[in-house]
Amino acid sequence: MTVCICQNVTLDDIADLIEKYGNDPEVIKEKADIGKGCGECLETSCDSVDLPWPYAMANAQAMLKQR
Ligand code: FES
Repeated sequence: MTVCICQNVTLDDIADLIEKYGNDPEVIKEKADIGKGCGECLETSCDSVDLPWPYAMANAQAMLKQR
């Protein structure tokens, strides 16, 4: 599930980064380079990605609970 096309980031990548660096959204966003291309994935209305960044943290955290 793609979160950022420009930086080739998936929801799995976000979950992996949370496991490594914790739950601070700003830290995860920085580590994944989210939004450092076109910036569209930062908007809730973005339909270019499967899951825009504003929804990615909560979904990745839910995914981790099932791992
Ligand atoms: S899709 Fe994330 S910066 Fe372009």
